[in-house]
Amino acid sequence: MSKNSAAQKVKNQPIRVLFVCLGNICRSPTAHALFQAYVNQQGYGDCIVVDSAGTGSWHTGHPPDERAQRVALEQGYDMSGLRSRTVSPDDFENFDYILGMDKENFKHLAMMKPAAYRGVLGLFLTESGIHHTVEVPDPFYGDQQHFEQAIELIQHGVAGLFNRIKGDGLISKA
Ligand code: 4NP
Repeated sequence: MSKNSAAQKVKNQPIRVLFVCLGNICRSPTAHALFQAYVNQQGYGDCIVVDSAGTGSWHTGHPPDERAQRVALEQGYDMSGLRSRTVSPDDFENFDYILGMDKENFKHLAMMKPAAYRGVLGLFLTESGIHHTVEVPDPFYGDQQHFEQAIELIQHGVAGLFNRIKGDGLISKA
């Protein structure tokens, strides 16, 4: 039995997770790629749908920033197939977890959130159980070090987020 077929969904529907930053070319695609890889590695690839989006639309259709791609590739994550898109009101109908990478992203999402939304809207690191820091700082105007810092923080969060989602009881291993 493959790892994936051993994973079973409660409610028979995949759990949907959306990472959101400003441009959807640095932080949220990195979280998208690393979380997707972790979910696949844990054998839950067919139980959890992962996506990312930006609150701004300047980079719609663009691949991730070359600097973000480079630091991700150095750690074995190929983000070249991802394309930026803007967060939309429909996302609140389609995603169970909507996670902002910083407080500004979160504020933007909180203003968009329909009153009827029953999913989890929060900050990625906080919802992942990381307590020493709240935000993944925007590396776009920074240098290599800022991109490395961002991927390191994201790397810290992914296992915690996976365990959090499992702990919420919506997915379980057969
Ligand atoms: P991200 O970084 O939100 O992590 O994708 C940024 C990308 C682009 C811009 C700002 C932040 N921008 O101003 O174009």
